[in-house]
Amino acid sequence: MSLTTLPTDILILVLEGLGVLELIALSSTCHKLHSMVYEFGWVGYLRSNPRPSYGLSSLRPKWSPRCRVQYDYLTDTAWEKFNFVARPLSRPWQGKLQPTLAISPSRLVVAAGSTLYSYKFGNLGEGLSPSIHLEGTFSFVEEPHEPSRNITGATFVQDGGRDRTLYVAFQDGAIERVMLIASELNGKTISATRTIVPSFPNFDFVESFSFDRDSLLSLSSTGLAKLENLSASDESSSSMIEVKSRSWVSLLSLNSSTPYAAFGTSSTTPVAIHPITNTQLSSVPSAILYTDKGVTLPTDRLPSTAVYGLSHAPPSSPWGSSKEIVVTGWFDGVVRCYDLRSSTCTSLESGRTQNPGPIPLRPVMSLSDKWSEEPIYSVSCGGGSSSHIAAGTARHSVVSFWDVRYPKEGWKVYAPGNDPSPVYSVILESSRFFGVTQSRPFVYDFGPGLTANTYPPLTHVRGDGLKQRRGSLSFSVMVVPHSH
Ligand SMILES: *[C@@H]1O[C@H](CO)[C@@H](O)[C@H](O)[C@H]1NC(C)=O
Ligand SMILES: *[C@@H]1O[C@H](CO)[C@@H](O)[C@H](O)[C@H]1NC(C)=O
Ligand SMILES: *[C@@H]1O[C@H](CO)[C@@H](O)[C@H](O)[C@H]1NC(C)=O
Repeated sequence: MSLTTLPTDILILVLEGLGVLELIALSSTCHKLHSMVYEFGWVGYLRSNPRPSYGLSSLRPKWSPRCRVQYDYLTDTAWEKFNFVARPLSRPWQGKLQPTLAISPSRLVVAAGSTLYSYKFGNLGEGLSPSIHLEGTFSFVEEPHEPSRNITGATFVQDGGRDRTLYVAFQDGAIERVMLIASELNGKTISATRTIVPSFPNFDFVESFSFDRDSLLSLSSTGLAKLENLSASDESSSSMIEVKSRSWVSLLSLNSSTPYAAFGTSSTTPVAIHPITNTQLSSVPSAILYTDKGVTLPTDRLPSTAVYGLSHAPPSSPWGSSKEIVVTGWFDGVVRCYDLRSSTCTSLESGRTQNPGPIPLRPVMSLSDKWSEEPIYSVSCGGGSSSHIAAGTARHSVVSFWDVRYPKEGWKVYAPGNDPSPVYSVILESSRFFGVTQSRPFVYDFGPGLTANTYPPLTHVRGDGLKQRRGSLSFSVMVVPHSH
């Protein structure tokens, strides 16, 4: 009996378990299997190997399934070989800023000082990485003599698919809803319509925004957290709680089995999970995330520390794709991953069952660079094989990467120009990593088909610390395995 005499349903099941090279080999055997692979094989592969990416989300649906698989395969291979193009996205800014990044399917926005820099994604053709060009800048300071208004937080929110609306928070406490107005003139100033929205009392400013589906979570520096449904017209759909610590970062997760908000603060228990029930944020945490050692100590013996970075886990993590996995970046330089589903067993183990309060959780995985205890300032997940964690650190513009399948084999990269700066904000897509230092935004691109037209042009300035090899798109960066 030959393989091709099997019923189609069975053959489809067989295809499901195959990798890219196996599908290619199978498609080369005969007409029937070739058309099976093209009809079912590539689509099945894409379904079980998701590679979420904002920058590619509007282009990919127009590509053939085989082309999408090829893009992902070439990207995954480039990640395995540390083969990427490193580029600053702009010349350094004046002074030392604390910028933040926001991304949507059409744009990357860098908010630095009083200015939004809008980089738009473009289409260079089927199977090629999208281009990135500076669409324009928008300054919240209109006259040169006006004092600067530092932006402390920015996030895209839903706007009916126009994909141009952000919430922007300022150090003076104000919050504005800003709609960028597209301009035909590349790289020039763009205009925006601005609406002032209610802010926190007493000039308390927003340190972090987190947006999910239709809801916005705002976390103030002193620890007020507000959850509001931007689609709902009545105020009753919003709720506010006090986290009661100097606060840094928030993560809103509405698509998990129990919706929750996670908060990173400076305290003896710097990460708490607060459940959301009937759209209301609960003031009582359901879980507290501890270090391995901390979970065994009485709370009054814990040292004060801080968590500055929060993210969902990469989709292809060993725990499966779940919104119940939280990745956290700590002051002690360790990235700790927690499984909120594992709550029951940990509480028994730690002997805190008599306590009816929040469940103490220990990490399911801890990642660190044994040669560096630099605080982690930002974390984001995705990358090659959808299994990477990126962490921006406090000094030397270093970003550390780990593949969660091989957690002991991390590596780090010093950003182009080697700015003596933290990496304040990071975004990891499937083929691209975006980061920003006090001086400039930069990209590491692992995708195929990169050309000189992919990136904004950079004019050379003497003494900016950048080195570019002749004929290469990439600027020199130092890549160091953590084991070295
Ligand atoms: C803006 O931020 C910079 C750098 O963090 C700081 O030096 C400057 O004083 C800030 N300006 C205002 C008006 O807060
Ligand atoms: C937000 O409000 C809209 C309109 O009332 C509603 O349809 C939607 O389900 C709400 N979203 C959440 C997360 O509760
Ligand atoms: C969240 O869940 C809704 C409905 O269950 C789904 O349509 C949406 O794509 C999910 N969003 C994300 C970001 O997973």
